[in-house]
Amino acid sequence: MDQRRFISRKNEVVLLNGNVVVKSFKDTKNFDIEYQMLSLLSGFLSPKIIETKDNSIKMEYVKGDLLLDRYLCADTEEGAVLGKMLGNSVEALFCRMQSKIAFDENFRNYIVCGDSIFRVDFEETKQGKIEEWCAKIVSFAILYSAPFETKISFINSLVGEVCIARDEFLNLLQEEIVFLSGRWGVDLNNTDYFFILNDLMSKWKRQGKKD
Ligand SMILES: Nc1ncnc2c1ncn2[C@@H]1O[C@H](COP(=O)(O)OP(=O)(O)O)[C@@H](O)[C@H]1O
Ligand SMILES: [Mg+2]
Repeated sequence: MDQRRFISRKNEVVLLNGNVVVKSFKDTKNFDIEYQMLSLLSGFLSPKIIETKDNSIKMEYVKGDLLLDRYLCADTEEGAVLGKMLGNSVEALFCRMQSKIAFDENFRNYIVCGDSIFRVDFEETKQGKIEEWCAKIVSFAILYSAPFETKISFINSLVGEVCIARDEFLNLLQEEIVFLSGRWGVDLNNTDYFFILNDLMSKWKRQGKKD
């Protein structure tokens, strides 16, 4: 049998014969949460379950590019397209997931599949707000080493696509990015955060004046 192991943070995730993924969970609680969410979504922007056994889920292989790979080398135009696609997916998933949010927003958890972005990895799903979900995504988008203009267009396009309370989003973004930069051992002053924040706020101010 042909087997390929994916990069996985804490579980064992393998691709079998190029068409089925088996994810074996270290933790029963995480298995339960992912099983519940994948069942609820039943293939909507997420892999369909084929079978479960002990603490593992056999699921459909979602063919496509990792969002991370696409994002890191995207130009401004592609950044905007990816941001819009991700915004659409997140809003639709949030709705189907009954106001729950996926927790770990690293871009390996998203697969660009045709015109849509699919989500894998639901093991840490919890009750939350769409503003928190977007703040987590934008924190990763800022800290990854994509071109600055790509980040700006991706983030503008993403937040323009999702219906969010802006003040709440900005407060949560501050919280999330302080947490994430701390975890990565990065000094926030050496990142694009403050430039991107200024850009976003001045765009929103201009838009507000036009309304
Ligand atoms: N159904 C799937 N289709 C395609 N790739 C998948 C699928 N499930 C997982 N992967 C790949 O395996 C990696 C790890 O899976 P993930 O569910 O995120 O586990 P972990 O949380 O342990 O990292 C993902 O980043 C992705 O590349
Ligand atoms: Mg993952």
